[in-house]
Amino acid sequence: MTGEVVLAARGVTKHFPVSRKGRQVLTRQPRAVHAVDDVSFDLRRGHVTALVGESGSGKSTVARLLAQLYPLTSGEIVLNDVPTKVKRGKSFRAYCKQVQMIFQDPFASLNPVHTIRYHLTRALRVHNGRVKGEELEKGLTSLLERVNLTPPERFLDKYPHELSGGQRQRVAIARALGADPTVLLADEPVSMLDVSIRLGVLNLLRDLKERLHLAILYITHDIASARYFADTTMVMYAGQVIEGGDSETVTQEPAHPYTQLLIRSAPDPERAHDGVPTVTTAPGEPPSLISPPPGCRFAPRCPYAAEKCRTETPPKFDLVGDHYAACWLYDSETSDEHPRREPVEVGA
Ligand SMILES: Nc1ncnc2c1ncn2[C@@H]1O[C@H](COP(=O)(O)OP(=O)(O)OP(=O)(O)O)[C@@H](O)[C@H]1O
Ligand SMILES: [Mg+2]
Repeated sequence: MTGEVVLAARGVTKHFPVSRKGRQVLTRQPRAVHAVDDVSFDLRRGHVTALVGESGSGKSTVARLLAQLYPLTSGEIVLNDVPTKVKRGKSFRAYCKQVQMIFQDPFASLNPVHTIRYHLTRALRVHNGRVKGEELEKGLTSLLERVNLTPPERFLDKYPHELSGGQRQRVAIARALGADPTVLLADEPVSMLDVSIRLGVLNLLRDLKERLHLAILYITHDIASARYFADTTMVMYAGQVIEGGDSETVTQEPAHPYTQLLIRSAPDPERAHDGVPTVTTAPGEPPSLISPPPGCRFAPRCPYAAEKCRTETPPKFDLVGDHYAACWLYDSETSDEHPRREPVEVGA
């Protein structure tokens, strides 16, 4: 059971059309934001996969595509080996029963005029028919216990504003579990929470992964938390996955120059001055996604960029184990003209 692929992205691409203004109306060229381009990966049962990248790299768009909230421009989403495309209605509900999403802001995702009992009852009924009476009470208690909100009767009749941020996010997780899903898509689930309670919520998700064999996609811009929490880590840049592999390797021996930059620019308490951790943002800017540069999208910022990088898109090159990087530095065929660089060791 554990390790089995439940949800897979195959060449998933999403371009958002942009309206043309002024003289652009005269040109025939349709314009679009290339938010996600040719992204492929598997989500496995009992396995956390992290998707890391800076703001605007396309992480949330990938999650929404996997949740079938947008139609794809191209590619396919495969659920339990079956390519699946759903629209509204019954097929969407059947899909949601298996694939649930958790958002960054639990306050926005819960309705302030309704109690926790209302939210969880609804989740149980949408997916399991009209449960009531003792069966319903048992279901509600078990959902709250699963997310460690105990004793359940203390929380059931509260309103979202009466709970702390961490407790609200636990309720949002309980609501997602009401469907008894196999996949959880968690889009920055802890980034709005106080630093002191983030770990508790991540530990809860890890515990659910182990007990319920959930496949979890964990979206974050914090690569350090990916190392701690995820089994596999993928790094996204300007709409493309540029590196992936087991989390320890990707975070400790990053191969792609962008991942190396991301790790170097993460807040590091050891580099702190006067007790304030330094946050050096990665130098340079991500490219425009309306007309992304040809070749590697990171080339304009890359210290190792060669001519080929500016003209030809690098494929994924396999490194050791399941580690891969989409970077011409790892092309063994051209290693003479472009010396292959060994992944760098970044301090533990
Ligand atoms: N509905 C939409 N219409 C047009 N453009 C969109 C839409 N949704 C996202 N985009 C664009 O797609 C790109 C990727 O956005 P996305 O929200 O997926 O990034 P992200 O990695 O989740 O960023 P963040 O870390 O800030 O949440 C951005 O350039 C964004 O402006
Ligand atoms: Mg986002």
